[in-house]
Amino acid sequence: MNFTDSPFVCEMKEVTANMYRQGWDERNGGNISYLIDEKYIKKYFPKEKVIRKIPMGFTADPIVRGKCFLVTGTGKYFKNVTKDPETNLGLVRIDKSGKVANLLWGYKDGGKFTSEFPAHIMCHAERLRVNPNNRIIMHTHPTYTMAMGASTPVSELEFTKRLWTSNTEAIVVFPEGIGVLPCMVCGTNEIGIATAKKMKKFRIVSWTNHGIYGCGKDIDEAFGLIETVEKTAMVYMISLGHVVNVIPVNVLVGLCKLWNLKPMKGVYKQLDAIK
Ligand code: 13P
Ligand code: ZN
Repeated sequence: MNFTDSPFVCEMKEVTANMYRQGWDERNGGNISYLIDEKYIKKYFPKEKVIRKIPMGFTADPIVRGKCFLVTGTGKYFKNVTKDPETNLGLVRIDKSGKVANLLWGYKDGGKFTSEFPAHIMCHAERLRVNPNNRIIMHTHPTYTMAMGASTPVSELEFTKRLWTSNTEAIVVFPEGIGVLPCMVCGTNEIGIATAKKMKKFRIVSWTNHGIYGCGKDIDEAFGLIETVEKTAMVYMISLGHVVNVIPVNVLVGLCKLWNLKPMKGVYKQLDAIK
């Protein structure tokens, strides 16, 4: 059983290539972490050997200690994952102390996990509390979402309202709205703590002037969420200044009733009034 040929590595190859082709992940932009179930670790690593111990620079929440994550490497390009997954990806197990990650596979050139590892692991911890089936945290730099972030006040209500009124799929795919953080220094524990706090409530968080975080039970779900935000932001940005038809509130109310959604409060009083 060779982990390089596992479905998990295959999925990472596919999605990173796809995201690169979308133009979201220039150079080393973007990073993904994938929680791998223990039963698969046992299958691929019956005699588990630690290749290297990598200090994490923060203390992981007890809920993720002992768990294994397949993570993109820092400074690595999404476009290169397919041709050399063992250099561009790594599989780590967070040790019992929560301070060290034990490398089980990958980072072949001596590299390590993404600089956004604190944000990823802190978000995994929060999402696992909300949904024990959450497996993926995905970060990327989608062009139109970034443009929209730059031209929208740093406000969850305002960002959500602009998205919901540009595409009828938006409220259906993310009725809880979008979390928004101001521009912050990336790659730090601080941005990790702030993002994870937002992920208690939201499955998507916009980092103003930088990009987006999404999560899900699998790659399709996390990617689909980000894809929907980006498509909507694209429509919004392309039509900016020319809009004649925005989605009327009665259609949003109709969508919520049809899909039995619980939309974010405070965007429209008509939505707040739905029983
Ligand atoms: P890494 O190369 O460390 O993953 O950083 C890329 C990035 O998008 C930082 O936010
Ligand atoms: Zn980034």
